[in-house]
Amino acid sequence: MDFQNKHILFGVTGGIAAYKAVELLRLLKKAGANVNVIMTGSAQKFVGKTTFEVLSENPVLSDLFFDTDSSIKHIDLAARADAAIIAPATANTIAKFAHGIADDALSTTLLAVTCPVMICPSMNTDMYQNIRVQRNLDILEKDGWQILDPDSGVLACKTVGTGRLPDSGFIFDRVEAMLTKKDLNGKKILVSAGPTVEAIDPVRFVSNHSSGKMGYAIARAAEKRGGQVTLVSGPVSLEAPAGVECIDVVTCEEMADQMLAGLDQADIIIKVAAVADYKPVEPKTSKIKKKDNNKDLSILMIQNPDILKLIGEKKRKNQFLVGFAAETNDLEKNALMKMQKKNLDMIAANIVGSTDSGFKADTNKVKLFFKNGSSFDIPLMEKGKVADILIDHIIDKMG
Ligand code: PMT
Repeated sequence: MDFQNKHILFGVTGGIAAYKAVELLRLLKKAGANVNVIMTGSAQKFVGKTTFEVLSENPVLSDLFFDTDSSIKHIDLAARADAAIIAPATANTIAKFAHGIADDALSTTLLAVTCPVMICPSMNTDMYQNIRVQRNLDILEKDGWQILDPDSGVLACKTVGTGRLPDSGFIFDRVEAMLTKKDLNGKKILVSAGPTVEAIDPVRFVSNHSSGKMGYAIARAAEKRGGQVTLVSGPVSLEAPAGVECIDVVTCEEMADQMLAGLDQADIIIKVAAVADYKPVEPKTSKIKKKDNNKDLSILMIQNPDILKLIGEKKRKNQFLVGFAAETNDLEKNALMKMQKKNLDMIAANIVGSTDSGFKADTNKVKLFFKNGSSFDIPLMEKGKVADILIDHIIDKMG
């Protein structure tokens, strides 16, 4: 999602979380968005207008009568907005929105917007759970506005419960999703990511260097584009992407079970996981001890099932199957062989073993090969961008 040339209307209302809105504004600006902040009177009691003015590089609208020049600012801002976000949103402002009350700059402007709107409620737990607040949120949701559920934790009032404004990074992610074209609407996408881990004994295992970054980037991009995504993931230290159903697995067998269970409903299957090809025949139930008179240790390994090959054998004509190939040499030859052997529609081949692509890196350099013999080079770029280009090609090939 490109934020350049996007106009974001950013409403800030009077809650203690107003200070977090500064960080969200910084993220939106960093991404290239043009942000116009509107503050309620009580928001300015928490954070000064100047902070938002300096960071947004735009005047802050806070009063319909004193801030206007010859133009009708709130109508101009509403007409120009590609998205509106209210963070934090107090019970008072939510009530005004729900009932069409227009008695300040923010509520009046929001009556005039036609763009998507996201509300981020943030308040004391009892207030948030109050039937009137919930009823107002329901009204807004039914009207098509998006409500971002608050987080739980310690609140400013020292109580523990629901009502915290989510992290700025998370809200930014959801704004990005709101603005992304929904060209995967109605499609079910099954993605695998990360390594699999095969036990040798209770403390040792066989695995590989996959961090899950490439697979998670694909799941995240597909969700933002409207897909219903299931992510089957080996052990990684990444946060589950928002809006994605995540199923955690450890071994190849577990990954195979989950992928095959989800196969029937899937329209697109993308197998990014780095699966351990072999596993110890018989994992020991207690720790293998070092023996001083034994310099060598042999562990008998047996082949794991090839999940992608099994899926390739079962897949229906209208399902699109994508594999990845991690190669250290003969990229094209090996990728084409895997595509044919596993009955794939497309394979994404990457050279592994360098620091800026393949395992662990934030960037990747990939060559896509298609069943019809064509190919496409994706130069070195962030994995998120690689994911979007890969999805563009899937959509194109699926017609
Ligand atoms: O996770 P990151 O750190 O971001 O790294 C990304 C990545 C390098 C892991 C990723 O881009 C990648 O290349 N994934 C495929 C890794 C791999 O296992 O490649 P392979 O050439 O060994 O396998 C080919 C395909 O068969 C893969 O789609 C794999 O998921 C699948 N396979 C392999 C063996 C097996 N037993 N079952 C399988 O399904």
